[in-house]
Amino acid sequence: MKIMVLGGGGREHAVVHAFAKSSITTELHCCPGNPGIAKLAKCHAGDICCPNDMKKLCCDLGIELVFVGPEAPLVAGTADALRDAGILVVGPGKSGARLEGSKAFSKQFMKRHNIPTSDFDICTNLDECRAALSKRKAPFVVKADGLAAGKGAFLPETYDEAIDICKMMLVEQKLGTSGNLIVIEDFVPGVETTVLALCDGKTIRVLPSSQDHKRALDGDKGNNTGGMGAYSPVPWIDDKFMKKVTDEILNPTVEGLASDGIPFIGVIYAGIMVKKDGSLSVLEYNVRLGDPETQVVLPAFGGDFGEAALACAKGELSKIKWAGAARTALGVVIASGGYPGKFEKGYVITDSGADGDDTFIYHAGTKVNENNETVTNGGRVLTVVAMADTLQEAHDKAYKRVGEISFKDCIFRKDIGDKSLKGKEK
Ligand code: GLY
Repeated sequence: MKIMVLGGGGREHAVVHAFAKSSITTELHCCPGNPGIAKLAKCHAGDICCPNDMKKLCCDLGIELVFVGPEAPLVAGTADALRDAGILVVGPGKSGARLEGSKAFSKQFMKRHNIPTSDFDICTNLDECRAALSKRKAPFVVKADGLAAGKGAFLPETYDEAIDICKMMLVEQKLGTSGNLIVIEDFVPGVETTVLALCDGKTIRVLPSSQDHKRALDGDKGNNTGGMGAYSPVPWIDDKFMKKVTDEILNPTVEGLASDGIPFIGVIYAGIMVKKDGSLSVLEYNVRLGDPETQVVLPAFGGDFGEAALACAKGELSKIKWAGAARTALGVVIASGGYPGKFEKGYVITDSGADGDDTFIYHAGTKVNENNETVTNGGRVLTVVAMADTLQEAHDKAYKRVGEISFKDCIFRKDIGDKSLKGKEK
């Protein structure tokens, strides 16, 4: 099939890599892609958040299946426009994308369908925020309703700090329209994990488990980032846990969407807190694969990801089976110094090694400059991934490969996977 992947980050590089290895692929395209993706797929310029542009591009190329990487084009309605043109798509339409695009919608959805989540209030003004915060204790959880590129969730330690955050959104409008509505919810202590699943509107099938590392610095210190590394599968997540997640969260989500009349073909990303007593609480839904989780989940995936994606897009997930994780993958993000704050771009990336069957470098913030050199062009620059039979081996191989790559001011966490390796993940 002629496949198009929309997006240009590390996640999309891993998706393109998985399609490149799939038996269903005859032609592989990406928009906009990046220099790493360009080695595997034909890259096209274009605005993936412009539904009509994407429809025209895909129709002109005769694309049969589109995989949408990031959330913004889904919220913008790109998947709807492609489906209108008769193209198979993995990615929900605008109505389903509200699960990620509106925190207020997703909390109300969970409440309506008895999906476990913390108690919450939806606030439209500062008085409502004050009332919602006054009934709770620190740490507070304050979220912008709309998309904010990972910068819309806050865990203030004091009431005054929480009010300042609400003012920043409601009065100073620093997050634009995304901050016009605020969700204030109970803090849930526990161990956070992510479950990614494909959903065809009727059937939901989980992908291998993964563990992200969201803070910028070793020891889970520093600012929140998009994710500085991940591994898959997670040793403590077993079939029993996945069944509990499926029974209590994923199946009720699919049933809830269907009973609300919301078609949903795509990825459900459930951010879950596992409480001390073993009970679950959904922190958030996303409607796309995680980044950098995808860079480890797809290499660890035991089946043909192209076949799985096609079955999902056609509403035929119940007809196919795939094995659990075949091997363990660990990925380390190499970022620009200063990320997630301000950083410089344009530094030349050097690599004294080479990829093998078990190590891959997924590009994110890179570009090729006028001298034909690959240079940094974003916060998260590369994800270095290694596969092995054990987490320890994958860890050692990935860090050896990281040591071969360099650019000015590069940063990376040195402890990806350490908690699990030391048996302290849970
Ligand atoms: N790594 C977190 C996310 O993709 O949302």
